[in-house]
Amino acid sequence: MKAFVHNGPKGLTGATYTDITVDQRELAPHEVKVKIKAAGLNRRELLVVNRRTENDPAVVMGSDGAGIVEATGADVTHVKAGDEVIINPSLHWHDKTPAPPEEFDILGHPTNGTFAEYIILPAQNVEPKPAYLTWEEAAVLGVAGITGYRALFTRGQLQAGQTVLIPGIGSGVATFVLQMAKAAGARVIVTSRSLAKRERALELGADLAIDTACNWSEALNGEKVDLVIESIGPATINQSLSVLKKGGTLVTFGATTGDDVTFNIRTFFYGHQNILGTTLGSAVEFRELIQFLADHNIRPVLDQVYPLSETMTAIDRLVQSEQFGKIALRVEE
Ligand SMILES: NC(=O)c1ccc[n+]([C@@H]2O[C@H](COP(=O)([O-])OP(=O)(O)OC[C@H]3O[C@@H](n4cnc5c(N)ncnc54)[C@H](OP(=O)(O)O)[C@@H]3O)[C@@H](O)[C@H]2O)c1
Repeated sequence: MKAFVHNGPKGLTGATYTDITVDQRELAPHEVKVKIKAAGLNRRELLVVNRRTENDPAVVMGSDGAGIVEATGADVTHVKAGDEVIINPSLHWHDKTPAPPEEFDILGHPTNGTFAEYIILPAQNVEPKPAYLTWEEAAVLGVAGITGYRALFTRGQLQAGQTVLIPGIGSGVATFVLQMAKAAGARVIVTSRSLAKRERALELGADLAIDTACNWSEALNGEKVDLVIESIGPATINQSLSVLKKGGTLVTFGATTGDDVTFNIRTFFYGHQNILGTTLGSAVEFRELIQFLADHNIRPVLDQVYPLSETMTAIDRLVQSEQFGKIALRVEE
């Protein structure tokens, strides 16, 4: 089958579109085999290729996807062959717990991922695909949707009428957060380095869009926000904290511009502020996410769709931050 595989050396040079053998093994009782129709790209792919070494076995990349159940293990009851499903990339995390269990992992490294014609995975990681979503829309829900949902609602406890700030609205997660926060009745302020992306965000429902490069306190005329959904890291975290209300909460799940940040701890504790970490979400939250999107008729913001054979071109668009929303890969033509 065709697949996009990393097989060393470290970095993107070790990744190729190639032919690999389909896994024909008998399914374990709790597993399903899915024929992938479309997959979704995430910034995580850039992390994965840099964490791998030449000695690691080849891995099919990709965490997000949607497709048709080909076969099920003996104990699987909630889906059957022929069902259309969305893949939840959070492995071994079922209940909505404060943090994932130790065995939690993400599909696509070290286990084989979604950038291939077939995948075998635990049945707990597939959910029925709502009919109103196209294959590409369903395929990009995984990492970005579940991360944004848990950040906004489980961790951020967003309430209707509150104001939420989303730095870097071009991000795939950020566009989901904007759509969900508006559906939940929040006022939403976004930032972007790109004028075109700020305009797109306003069209999508943002109440205010400011330039990431400006002074945010000045641009907000002193307005403070209840919640910041932050994923950029050192390039923005001090601006984010500067416009956060006393008692407000900043939820972080990303380090796009680096892992280490410096901030004024005195201002932080005098302000009774909260900084919360989060990563993806549980199977329970994935189901809640799908229901929330369906209830509010939310369709993921699709930036571009590429054939699987052009995955490297799609990755380059992400590296250059040219995208607004999610990039999808069409696996079956
Ligand atoms: N922990 C988790 O579970 C989890 C899950 C999903 C994502 N993440 C992380 O969250 C982050 C966002 O993920 P994503 O897939 O949504 O990313 P993405 O689509 O690649 O978007 C990243 C955005 O960050 C902004 N940005 C990039 N470099 C910047 C800079 N130097 N200064 C200011 N803004 C900058 C850009 O926004 P503008 O173009 O609008 O300026 C860009 O579109 C990544 O770090 C990713 O690894 C973590």
